[in-house]
Amino acid sequence: MTTNGSRPRMVTVRVQRFNPDVDEKPYFDEFQVELTPAKTILDALHEIKTAQDGSVTYRRSCRHAICGSCAMYVNGKNILVCNTPLRDKIDEEGTVTIRPLPYLPIIKDLVVDRSSFWEQYERVKPWLIPSADVPEKEFRMSSEEVAALNKAETCIMCGACYSACQVIAMNKRYVGPHALLKAFLRVLDPRDMAPSERLADVGDQDGVFRCHTIFNCIDACPKDLDPTKAIETLRKLAQKRQAFEAARRDRQRMLNEPIASS
Ligand code: FES
Repeated sequence: MTTNGSRPRMVTVRVQRFNPDVDEKPYFDEFQVELTPAKTILDALHEIKTAQDGSVTYRRSCRHAICGSCAMYVNGKNILVCNTPLRDKIDEEGTVTIRPLPYLPIIKDLVVDRSSFWEQYERVKPWLIPSADVPEKEFRMSSEEVAALNKAETCIMCGACYSACQVIAMNKRYVGPHALLKAFLRVLDPRDMAPSERLADVGDQDGVFRCHTIFNCIDACPKDLDPTKAIETLRKLAQKRQAFEAARRDRQRMLNEPIASS
């Protein structure tokens, strides 16, 4: 009974289980969890692990949609389970089904091997490459330059877009929406001195021209980012990269100057 005397509403949580050391294929275990207004899917998993089956395995860290470690495939969609209320994902049968991110090797239960995700990320040199002539004061960007980044800097590298991408499902050589979004961020950053080199790197058949514009990455992103638009921008810039590089060198000379925003 709840504190007001009513019966608690129970939800069936189906968790995909798989231990590659002993199981031939994945299967589901079902658990009953009480539905409360503030309970997230991650809370439900904690409850299952602490009170029902300690062997259920999943990743999480921050619990505040910042670290990106808790992305999972819930009722047919990649989401962050730490900021998704359990009540929002109950299907018509009163069930919430949790699987690991698709298209990635399963290490155990809901934990996937993200090696290919990080390898592709490294491939785009995600760090800033600044001028050797670093200004004495802070670098200044105009509000238009910040707006052009389209909030790409808020990506938390959760892997939701990567594992929702149909091209990744077929071809792990594809750089992927997460890494191309980071390349976009660096190419458009006026402090970066290697936009032409970056555009040459991503402007091949495993890069921006491999994207099929299916938009799954946009649907999956828990931060409402737009990797497809970023890829489209990189495609256009890749075709005029020398002119873009020249404009960047001009812009670099003004980095220490006040910016007049229009
Ligand atoms: Fe960090 Fe969910 S636990 S994003």
